[in-house]
Amino acid sequence: MAKKSEEVDLSELKIPQHVAIIMDGNGRWAKKRMLPRNMGHRAGAKTMEDICEDAWDLGIKYLTLYAFSTENWKRSEEEVSGIMDLLRKYLVDCIERSAKNNMRVRIIGDRTALAPDIQEKIVNLEEASKGYTGLNLTIAINYGGRDELRRAVRGMVEEASRGELDADKVTEDFISSRLDTRELPDPDLLIRTSGEERLSNYLIWQLAYTEFYFTDCLWPDFDKKELIKAVRYFNGRDRRFGGV
Ligand code: FPP
Repeated sequence: MAKKSEEVDLSELKIPQHVAIIMDGNGRWAKKRMLPRNMGHRAGAKTMEDICEDAWDLGIKYLTLYAFSTENWKRSEEEVSGIMDLLRKYLVDCIERSAKNNMRVRIIGDRTALAPDIQEKIVNLEEASKGYTGLNLTIAINYGGRDELRRAVRGMVEEASRGELDADKVTEDFISSRLDTRELPDPDLLIRTSGEERLSNYLIWQLAYTEFYFTDCLWPDFDKKELIKAVRYFNGRDRRFGGV
C-alpha cells in the first residue's frame, strides 16, 4: 500500500533529465564501522550500481557520477590502487549490466593517465554499450573541470595555429562541443552527499544553471528514497535561467 501512494506522488513530479552526483562520504562511512577506507569505496561502488536502476525507474535519462578526480591521486598509494582495482572490476562487470539494463556508458576525464589495461577496459565497455538506448550513464574518472577546459582550449589553440580555426567560431556552444560532455545535455540537478557543499572541480562549465542539492547522507547509504528526496527538492525550485 505504501508503495502505491508513493507512485501516485511520483507521477506528479517533474523529473530532471540529467542528474550529476558527487559521491562523497565513503571514507566516513567506513570509519563509522571501523573498516578500512577501501571498504567504503567498495560499498560506494555497489551504490553506484543500484542508483543507475533507481534513476532509470524514476525517468532520469542521464546520470553523471564523479568517481575519481584529478586531485584524488594525492591520496595514499594504497587507497588509489584500491580504487583502481575496484574500477577494473566495475568496468568489466558493467558490460553485462549495461546489456541487462539497456544502459549506455561513457567515461569522461583524461584517460591517458590511467593504466593501459584500464584504458582498454574503458574502450571495451563504451563500445559494447554504445547501441543501448536506456539510461546514459557517464562516469568521471581522472576528471577535473579545469583540466577538461585546459584540454579543450589546448586543442583549439593547436587548430588555430594550423590556421584551421577562426576566432569567430568560438561561441559558447562551440566550447561545449569541445568538452568531454559534448554528447550530454547540461545537468538539471547536482547532488552532493555527505554534507560537503562545494563543487570540487566537477563540471564547472556545465553546471552554470543547475540546481544544487546537498544531503548529509553518506554515499554508500544513498538509495532510491534519497534520490526521490532530491527530485522533490528540484521540484520546489523555480528555474529562470537568468530571466524573470
Ligand atoms: C568520496 O569519498 C568518494 C570518492 C573518492 C569517489 C567515489 C568513489 C566510489 C563511489 C568508489 C569507486 C568506484 C569505482 C567504480 C571507481 P571519500 O573517500 O572522499 O569520503 P570521505 O570524505 O568520507 O573521506
